[in-house]
Amino acid sequence: MIQVESLQKTYPGRKGQPACRAVDSITFSVPKGQLLGLLGPNGAGKTTTVKMLCGLILPDTGRIFVNGKELTRSRIAALADISAVLEGNRNMYWRLTPRENLEFFAALKGINPAKIRGEINHYLERFRLAEKSDVEARKLSRGMQQKLAILVALISQSKVILLDEPTLGLDVQASHEIRQLLKEIVAEQGRTVILTTHDMNVVQDTCERVIIVNQGRVVADDSVHNLLDLFKVRVYKVTIAGELTGEQRASLLSMEEVLIQEELPHQTVVSVRLEKSEVLYEVIGILGSNNSVIESIDQEQNNFERVFLEIVEGGAQVV
Ligand SMILES: Nc1ncnc2c1ncn2[C@@H]1O[C@H](COP(=O)(O)OP(=O)(O)O)[C@@H](O)[C@H]1O
Ligand SMILES: [Mg+2]
Repeated sequence: MIQVESLQKTYPGRKGQPACRAVDSITFSVPKGQLLGLLGPNGAGKTTTVKMLCGLILPDTGRIFVNGKELTRSRIAALADISAVLEGNRNMYWRLTPRENLEFFAALKGINPAKIRGEINHYLERFRLAEKSDVEARKLSRGMQQKLAILVALISQSKVILLDEPTLGLDVQASHEIRQLLKEIVAEQGRTVILTTHDMNVVQDTCERVIIVNQGRVVADDSVHNLLDLFKVRVYKVTIAGELTGEQRASLLSMEEVLIQEELPHQTVVSVRLEKSEVLYEVIGILGSNNSVIESIDQEQNNFERVFLEIVEGGAQVV
C-alpha cells in the first residue's frame, strides 16, 4: 500500500546554522491492513517522513508510492488514498461541532453526508463523542479533539491514515482509548495506518511492526515481538541460601559472565549473563557443590523500552 524508496530531506540551515539532514535515506514498505509504528527519539526525522508521505513537503531525492501511484508524478491520485493527522495541526474546524465537521469533510471527499448519517452516528457513539456531537470543537477536551481529528481522517474513506504523535500530551485514559480504537479500526476495516510516536508503550500496545528511526535512518525494522526476542537480555539471577565457600567464590569470579551481586550470611545472589546456555549449568554446578541450596533462578524481564534504548543509544543495527 505504501512504498518508500531512499527518501532524503535536508532543511536549509536557519540564520547561518549548518543545513540539517532530517531524513537520510529511508526505505520501507507497508502492506495493506498493517498498523506500523515509526518510533524514534525527538528529532529523529519521524514528522519529516510523515510530511513527505502526505505530500506536504518534497523529498530531495527518493520515491514514494501510494497504492501503486507515485506521489511526485501522480500527486492527486496518490493523495486521494491518504489522510493525515499531524501534530499540532488540526484537520478540523474549531467553530463546527463534531457532527458538522464529519459531514463537511465527507462532503469535501464527494460523499453525500445524508447517505452516511448512520455511519457518523455509529462513529460518534464508538468514539464516545455522541454527547458532545453538537458542541463546537474548540470547546472539547484535548483528548476529544484528538479523537475527532482521527474520525475526520477515517470518514474520508482513505485507505491510508497517517497519524503523527496521536497520543502526545493526552492523559493516560485518553491515550489508552485512542490506542484501542486504532487497533479495532485496523482489524475491522483493513485500513493501513502509520503512526509516529516516541512513546514505546504506544508501539508495544498497538503495532504489529515497528520501524525505529534515529538521525534520519532506519535502525530497526521488525515485528515488536521479534525485536523483543532479539534483545532478550538473557540475564539470570541465581539465589542460594547462605554464603559461598572460598572455593566457590574463586570459581565464580574466574568466569567473566558472572557477577556476585549480593553476599550476605543468609543469602547470596549471583547474576549470570548468558551468551551460551552452558554457562548457567556451570554456575549451578559450582553453587550446588558444597550442598548449597538454590532458592531461585529468575530471568530478568525485558521490555520494549530497553530494546529501544539499546538500539538507539547502543548503536545496534537490526535491518
Ligand atoms: N522546518 C524545519 N527547518 C529546519 N530544520 C527542521 C525543520 N523541521 C525539522 N527540522 C529538523 O529536522 C530534524 C528532524 O525533525 P523531525 O522530523 O521533526 O523529527 P521528529 O518528528 O522525529 O521529532 C530535527 O533535527 C529538526 O530540528
Ligand atoms: Mg515529530
